[in-house]
Amino acid sequence: MTDTQAPQAIYLKDYQAPFFLIETTELTFKLFENHTLVSSRLSMQPNPAISAEPGAKLILSGGEDLVLEKVSVNGQPLSTDHYQVNNSNLELSVPSGSFVLEIETRIEPQNNTRLEGLYKSNGMFCTQCEAEGFRHITYYLDRPDVMSKFTTRIEADRKSSPILLSNGNKMDSGDLPEGRHWVSWQDPFKKPCYLFALVAGDLSLKEDKFTTCSGREVQIQLFVEAQDLDKCEHAIVSLQNAMRWDEESYGCEYDLDIYMIVAVSHFNMGAMENKGLNIFNTSCVLAKQETTTDAAFQRVEGVVAHEYFHNWSGNRVTCRDWFQLSLKEGFTVFRDEVFSADMGSSTVKRIEEVTFLKTVQFAEDAGPLSHPVRPQSYIEMNNFYTTTVYNKGAEVVRMIHTLTGEAGFRRGTDLYFERFDGQAVTTDDFVDVMEEANDIDLKQFRRWYAQAGTPVVKVAAEYDSHQQTYTLTVKQHCEAKPGTPENEAFLIPLKVALLDAAGQELPLKLADLPETNVGEMVLRVSQFEQQFVFVGLESEPVPSLLRNFSAPVNLEFSYTDSQLSFLMSNDTDGFNRWNAAQQLAQQCMFDQIKNYRAGRPVVLDETLLSGYREVLKNKDLDKAMVANMLTLPSEAYLCGQMMPADIVAVHAVRQSLIRLLAENLKSELLDIYETNKTTGQYKPDAQQVAQRSLKNCSLMYLMTLGDEAVRAACYSQFSHGNNMTDVSSALRALVHTGAADGSVALAEFIEKWQHEPLVVDQWFAVQAASPQSSTLDNVKKLMEHPLFELTNPNKVRALIATFCSANLINFHSEKGEGYDFLAENVVALDKINPQIAARIVNPLSRWRQQDDTRQALMKAALEKIRSTPSLSNDLYEVVSKSL
Ligand code: TRP
Ligand code: ZN
Repeated sequence: MTDTQAPQAIYLKDYQAPFFLIETTELTFKLFENHTLVSSRLSMQPNPAISAEPGAKLILSGGEDLVLEKVSVNGQPLSTDHYQVNNSNLELSVPSGSFVLEIETRIEPQNNTRLEGLYKSNGMFCTQCEAEGFRHITYYLDRPDVMSKFTTRIEADRKSSPILLSNGNKMDSGDLPEGRHWVSWQDPFKKPCYLFALVAGDLSLKEDKFTTCSGREVQIQLFVEAQDLDKCEHAIVSLQNAMRWDEESYGCEYDLDIYMIVAVSHFNMGAMENKGLNIFNTSCVLAKQETTTDAAFQRVEGVVAHEYFHNWSGNRVTCRDWFQLSLKEGFTVFRDEVFSADMGSSTVKRIEEVTFLKTVQFAEDAGPLSHPVRPQSYIEMNNFYTTTVYNKGAEVVRMIHTLTGEAGFRRGTDLYFERFDGQAVTTDDFVDVMEEANDIDLKQFRRWYAQAGTPVVKVAAEYDSHQQTYTLTVKQHCEAKPGTPENEAFLIPLKVALLDAAGQELPLKLADLPETNVGEMVLRVSQFEQQFVFVGLESEPVPSLLRNFSAPVNLEFSYTDSQLSFLMSNDTDGFNRWNAAQQLAQQCMFDQIKNYRAGRPVVLDETLLSGYREVLKNKDLDKAMVANMLTLPSEAYLCGQMMPADIVAVHAVRQSLIRLLAENLKSELLDIYETNKTTGQYKPDAQQVAQRSLKNCSLMYLMTLGDEAVRAACYSQFSHGNNMTDVSSALRALVHTGAADGSVALAEFIEKWQHEPLVVDQWFAVQAASPQSSTLDNVKKLMEHPLFELTNPNKVRALIATFCSANLINFHSEKGEGYDFLAENVVALDKINPQIAARIVNPLSRWRQQDDTRQALMKAALEKIRSTPSLSNDLYEVVSKSL
């Protein structure tokens, strides 16, 4: 951005098909220590689908970091008066009909700290082109609806870069003078340039294979740094499971003979689905028992599957423009969610998804950065890789699945992959095939893509004992958002059951419909207010509503405490049992927050205590389910339910209740702690993960008691645990409760693990999340630690982002030191990596949620950022929309 000109927004309504197409793209990279030369040879033609005025100029995108060395058309070098270059593009006059365009650019990957385009990580060259990174490599039609066949030749020093990789199949290789060599690659599939990838470096290889359903053998290759060869197994098994699952669930078979994954330490996001050559953040691919927690094992499985599933949902069928991002991301998240559910416990998986959605996505949708699943405009596309596009987008696909049923959904996806293979399409195209394959009308449903905000669904029930009817009155409302000033009614699939006093599902019959024998049904809520009358009910049932979270809405129903504790032990929907426990806890917590504010002591409600005791005693429940039920709603979630948020009260009440629960349930918790020690060989499977999570949840409760024997047990678990889940849980418990030997444990931990960057990240994160009042000072000190790097996003996330988003009590400290800390770091980071700066500034955007004092301080911090000269587009967009 220049200082005189505000960045311009791009609008969906302005979409225009490209004037030119690129049939083939031949790239040559000459990699050197201090620069790289990129030559491209593009065979171009006017787009036959549109009638552009003859003599239309060709405008190629290209960043400020490109030095244009040469440009020629049909072999003729262009003199400088035949083209124009500025900060963002190259404009040239071209002949009519087909022509060959050759361009040479010079770039400096070693100085690229933005981590988009071609950059270096620990001496290795790698690329990140989504969304618009290819324009930092060469001038091109950098848009997803321009699909081309790519060949890539890489030349580099043989000693420092023995491995040279790009998309597709390896074609040839050879020697060059001066210790250099070359390799050429060809990708047989057309793709947009955001899926291009190149890797060059000194990497070690772990290999395996997979035989597809049609009997083809696929080579699986994982490239990592030598010291990480012992952390590849889990990713490979996850990949094989994902490949098999996609064949069985969607009929999707892998289409190349080789599938490569490269692990890099410096990466802005989790991973990237480049065709045949995925590039992963080390944190999403490396795993072994000693260094990796169960949660991280599960994340590896999920991300490996996610990127693999993109091969069909994203690569074979891609997006027409970036407004359609959820076409690939929402659908692929839905696919990886169901995959993970199938690999482990589906209820627990659903609980984790919904907790995240309600805490993070609902907050985004309630704040100034709210946008529809299909946004209408953006300044910087990188800012729209959001929880709304990903996670709400996945919920929207899930609702289609609910409305069409398993078989109908599959008919729809079969048609989708068949009809749009090799094309760049829209979310409307996706919904169209779902309608066509199922002969249904999803016109109203499409509003989920266009309207922002979380609908509130209010349900009221009335039982008529004479008529034996039970009437649910459902009202929906969705607050207006910028861009959608007046929301129209959504089509909401509301899954319900009615339970009798013994917890049995009653047969459901709606007044105006024929008899059925089902105990669960999906009500189609389509109006602002609507009634559903169930008949034939001999006594008043307890409703189980929004089962398995069938729609991304805020449900309101005034349950009594005793109804909630009934549902908590009896609901036949596992998700709703957990949800009832959460609601009961939430109601108790809000009562105690009132007490706390009135200066009265916090007391433990009998219903909650006995509910928890029941859960602890229930041997039939899945252990991970018990751990989830015992976890009180988070501070972030509770603050999200208050206006204004009162973090001081929320934190104090939550901590007191945890301690009171621990005091009252001490013997049960000790028993659980002792009996759930896993013995035998470590496995990150559902059963062991569940057992460890329950054990460590008990430990955290017990550690609040300040009991010497418990502390000793915790320290012993820290010292002798044979897996990182146990070790880091114990470390967390010691540090967060301010136990005397917390600092000794921290010192021992870093001494032992200083050579494992992903473990160092955990060391930073545990400290950054500590509720102890010295935390901010400690975080500032840790930024000076030799193992901290502002140029590595994993380090920034572990320390700065953890403090600002997972340590609310300290981030929102009254004098605003937390806000100033974030503002200063965001400004410094913007010069290094704008994408990351724009992401971590997020906690400041929700200032309207806070009390007046904090609002003023947060706004001042945002103003300070905004007044910084030459902000990136990324940061400018987020900060200006937030103010
Ligand atoms: N498409 C990637 C995914 O699987 C997202 C991604 C990876 C990305 N790296 C990125 C997006 C960098 C923007 C910038 O979800
Ligand atoms: Zn994705």
